[in-house]
Amino acid sequence: MTIFPETFVWGTATAAYQVEGAWNEDGRGPSIWDTFSHTPGLVTGGDTGDVACDHYHRMEEDLDILAGLGVGAYRFSISWPRVRPGGRANQPGLDFYSRLVDGLLARGIAPVATLYHWDLPQELEDAGGWPNRDTAHRFAEYADLMGRTLGDRVRTWITLNEPWCSAYLGYASGVHAPARTEPAAALAAVHHLNLGHGLAVQALRAVVDPAAQMSVTLNLHHVRGVSDQDADAVRRADALANRAFLGPMLEGAYPRDLIADTAAVTDWSFVRDGDEATACQPLDVLGVNYYNPTLVRQWDGSSERATADGHQDGAASPWIACEDIEFVPQPGPYTEMGWNIDETGLTELLLRLHRDYPSMPTMITENGAAFADVVDPDGRIRDERRVDYLQRHLSAVAEAISAGADVRGYFVWSLMDNFEWAHGYAKRFGIVRVDPDTLERTWKDSAHWYRDVVATGKLPA
Ligand code: FCB
Repeated sequence: MTIFPETFVWGTATAAYQVEGAWNEDGRGPSIWDTFSHTPGLVTGGDTGDVACDHYHRMEEDLDILAGLGVGAYRFSISWPRVRPGGRANQPGLDFYSRLVDGLLARGIAPVATLYHWDLPQELEDAGGWPNRDTAHRFAEYADLMGRTLGDRVRTWITLNEPWCSAYLGYASGVHAPARTEPAAALAAVHHLNLGHGLAVQALRAVVDPAAQMSVTLNLHHVRGVSDQDADAVRRADALANRAFLGPMLEGAYPRDLIADTAAVTDWSFVRDGDEATACQPLDVLGVNYYNPTLVRQWDGSSERATADGHQDGAASPWIACEDIEFVPQPGPYTEMGWNIDETGLTELLLRLHRDYPSMPTMITENGAAFADVVDPDGRIRDERRVDYLQRHLSAVAEAISAGADVRGYFVWSLMDNFEWAHGYAKRFGIVRVDPDTLERTWKDSAHWYRDVVATGKLPA
């Protein structure tokens, strides 16, 4: 039987744009995701986050669900354009997050606040977006505002969620907002996200409770090669996907091989003296999002090139300067996203991080699966494939812990079905179902299962 440490933190996760709705209420300004989802043809089914799960108005009910699950922590994100539209503090927006945090604390649930889960205020994109250095400074100002507002109560801060997606899906492949396909700009975005992270940690530390933990969430890719011949393909994909963030944030320097690999795209002159040191602020824990591994092969240059990286085919590739690398389809089973289910990648990834950064604890800030759930005639949602997915991945976490990795917690993605970005509401990750028409919340079998895991700290045999 798999037993987790007493202090292990159990949680669930959501993000503002995916659940809140109320997109134009109480002074909220537009974000790049409003613009993206309101542009015909970009989101499946023309879905938008205008209403989403209506969490903005149903917060109390959702807090009660969290209490019912018995989780010790809840990871949510703050909508930047709700609290600081046009660069000015918006009191009703700030009050919403204050109520959320108080509601969590009243139920004994630790708030874990992510500052940036992809919803850049539109006016900052109009001024150039993340490829513009100024955005990093605006981000630090926003961090300061949130630190002053919630810093007496929030003990875990996550600056960015998956800057990989913000930079490469937003500015290189264009499948995410702001839908730009400019590889050089995407690498500038990488840098300004790293810089913004460091500036935000500094800004938070200056105003929040000194005991607060600082973190960032990365969707590290566990990259494997098809054969030993593919070692260089693995190295390059790892540099672009992982070390582009781990390097500056945890080691204070960009990997030299990344700079060399991308030399034809940019000279990296946007990196100014001192930036890498700024990006490298002491962190208390590293957030890791994991869904599946990545398989690469050196392309022979003539056969049809495989691009099965799981990130949707866009007008261009998110893999800048990796034109001679193939992303090879992996054996199933698959989730509804088409992502293969392979929990061994999670154990290996956690052990790699433990080896490379032995003094840095980790927490799994997202892990979960989309399936086409069915409501049975008796009203029950028997989502046994999701239970199996979660069970496998929690076992994989336990295995990493027993091999020495310091993993502090696990957050299921997601608390409830929500707006899955360019896939709209078609992909359902929740352990709680949200009815697409009535928005009624119903516990799936996975929610009952997770409640028992949380209560006992053990996985069923
Ligand atoms: C991650 C995102 C999260 C959700 C899951 C499925 O990349 O951080 O918002 O969309 O994937």
